[in-house]
Amino acid sequence: VSAPDTYDLFEKNAMSYDCVNSIISLGLDGRWRRWAACQAARQHKARVLDAFSGTGLVGLEAALMGADVTLADVSPQMLSIAGERAEQKAALVDIKLVDLAEEPMIFKKEHFDAITMAFGVRYINNPGAIIARLSSLLRPGGKLIILEFVVPQGGLISKLASLYFFHILPRIGSFLAGQRELYDYLISSTIALGKKENLLNIISSAGLSVTETKLFGFGLVCGVVAVRKDMYDKNNSTF
Ligand SMILES: C[S@@+](CC[C@H](N)C(=O)[O-])C[C@H]1O[C@@H](n2cnc3c(N)ncnc32)[C@H](O)[C@@H]1O
Repeated sequence: VSAPDTYDLFEKNAMSYDCVNSIISLGLDGRWRRWAACQAARQHKARVLDAFSGTGLVGLEAALMGADVTLADVSPQMLSIAGERAEQKAALVDIKLVDLAEEPMIFKKEHFDAITMAFGVRYINNPGAIIARLSSLLRPGGKLIILEFVVPQGGLISKLASLYFFHILPRIGSFLAGQRELYDYLISSTIALGKKENLLNIISSAGLSVTETKLFGFGLVCGVVAVRKDMYDKNNSTF
């Protein structure tokens, strides 16, 4: 499936996005994002780019852990909510309105210690190429941290998780948000992305080496930490 008109989609859903997500993930989503933020903010005063930041849930968490954070997203509405939330939490973040799939890249190469990309892979048509571009912004040894929905594999628990995710969640999400498009796309793009291995292949095709993976939400969400292969080969002993 090709990515929808993302701009339109998130402008329409910005107000309800966080609340609906929290309900349909049964309150588990905070844990997934906290894991990503912890990975990114591990180093003292880490310079972190939260790419495809939306309302800044990952980036703000990293900022509160002491990281120097830039939020980047194409949706003015999502970023405006991020700005309000940053103010409420007294978190100092830089906010950039930018289409990360378009040239030219506005950030300096090799500037960031970590880049987070939570639930952004599905919104770009050529994820391998975009991830490769983003990784050029990482300093040598810097980490890319990705969170994304995948098709769960395994026993009864994953079957029940699939039943919930593919059949019940879209109905609840659409009802709460008052429109179906975002949740229909969530399902079709998860089916298109497929299993965790496909996500790992995309990351690897972008020239990155995966150093850690973690499954959340009964196998529905995959967390990945990766480093640039060129840097990994040179600095192998330090990872
Ligand atoms: C599903 S949301 C994820 C938001 C956030 N990372 C989170 O964890 O909730 C996807 C975000 O990607 C943004 N996005 C999609 N395409 C983009 C692009 N080409 N450049 C920048 N942001 C984009 C959307 O505006 C939206 O805020």
